Amino acid sequence: MNVVCIGTGYVGINTAAALAYIGHSVCGVDIDEHKINLLKSHKAPISEAGLDELLSQKMNLTFTTCLEDCVNTADVIFIAVGTPSLPNGHANLSYVMSAAEDIANSLMPIHDVTIVVKSTVPVGVNSMIERQIRDKVTMRCGSDALLHFSSNPEFLREGMALSDTFYPDRFVFGTEDDKAYQMLTTLFAPIIDQTFEPPAFVEMPDPRPKTQCIHTDAISAEMIKYASNVFLALKISYANEIAGLVEKLGGNMDDISRGMGMDKRIAPYFLKSGLGWGGSCFPKDSLALLSMAKDYDYQMPIVQAAVDVNERQKTRLIQKVIDKLHILPGRRIAILGLSFKPRTDDVRNSPSVDIAKELVRRQAIVTVHDPQGLDNARVIYKNEGFIFCTDPIEAAQNADAIIITTDWAEYKNIDWKDMAKAVKTPFLFDARNLLRNELDKVKDFVYIGM
Ligand code: UDX
Repeated sequence: MNVVCIGTGYVGINTAAALAYIGHSVCGVDIDEHKINLLKSHKAPISEAGLDELLSQKMNLTFTTCLEDCVNTADVIFIAVGTPSLPNGHANLSYVMSAAEDIANSLMPIHDVTIVVKSTVPVGVNSMIERQIRDKVTMRCGSDALLHFSSNPEFLREGMALSDTFYPDRFVFGTEDDKAYQMLTTLFAPIIDQTFEPPAFVEMPDPRPKTQCIHTDAISAEMIKYASNVFLALKISYANEIAGLVEKLGGNMDDISRGMGMDKRIAPYFLKSGLGWGGSCFPKDSLALLSMAKDYDYQMPIVQAAVDVNERQKTRLIQKVIDKLHILPGRRIAILGLSFKPRTDDVRNSPSVDIAKELVRRQAIVTVHDPQGLDNARVIYKNEGFIFCTDPIEAAQNADAIIITTDWAEYKNIDWKDMAKAVKTPFLFDARNLLRNELDKVKDFVYIGM
């Protein structure tokens, strides 16, 4: 099939490349010329395991900044652009609406074409997009009969994006149009049936999963995405709330999470306590859900509590540091980890960065390190007063305390003996509980977990 993917961010580029790999002819479109030029030379604009290798495969994958180049041969058009938060918590729909506008202005359907919203959009936006495109295409071409629409939310995780794209737990197709459903199930058939040759450079879950499909209406599909993301976020906040009580009462939170997770109804995932959740989905989606509810005069105290507990984790950590160092002005503090989670260079919406900023605000001298995110951080946070260090030991020199803010596996294998020699005072705050079960490694430190 001929596919167009508008947006080459995490969702768009992984979807485009995976669809090309399974045999479709795909064109990725983005307004960002720099990204498109990188992609044309088979380079990924984001750091994602296996993506560079996938982009250099021999397959039918092209890129352009001009939607008109490819829109009229497409069987399926994906809208996969960002929906970041507005200051009031609502999702910013300007990119989605502008993609819809571009489609509406350039599409001249001479065969069936299905327009699919992959971007995470508030409930009702699929229907709004459909209306806008239908009206304009009818005005220009006299008919909208060949147009079909579906919501198809995406659940990939950064750092595992390709693995999640090739081996998803489920597909959600939100459409009441049989043709759209049929086109999408045909398009994704090799993934739904897991009949494609597994790419060697993409991590495959063991056992290879059975992908499930749910066919529902667009409103339910939109809500499945928000309800799933926010449920995961509140699961983590619940674990963090329990961990705070365990800290007072005694007990081992890792064992408690493991014990809870042995119940199939609870499952062992997203129960890891620590500094809390960040990234480009959980924070924005929980705020968007709260904003949607507010618009309809509906309270969501559980979601609100998940957000509050997540914020409280940062305050708890700062308080722990103050309890040991007493004053912060002039203290030298090494932050290990800036990305919002390991295995990604994405340092946006990261609780680790919030901690570094707060320490700077309180006049501490803050050195920062990250195994992958340093280059991004140097650009995005160049005016935050951080001292960027390419090595953890450099960050630790003469420090009054070290804080592990992201659970990078690399930090387990640092020579902690050398780190202890480098610091001024051996306080180690492990805000991700990375070394909680390997205290031998850090026995030269006063160890404080979360
Ligand atoms: C998430 C969803 O998992 C994905 O399905 C959705 O499409 C996009 O949002 P992502 O933002 O890439 O993916 O990160 P994820 O791996 O879910 O982690 C989110 C945050 O939760 C990270 O900051 C991570 O450190 C934190 N986390 C995760 C915990 O604190 N504890 C856990 O047990 C799991």
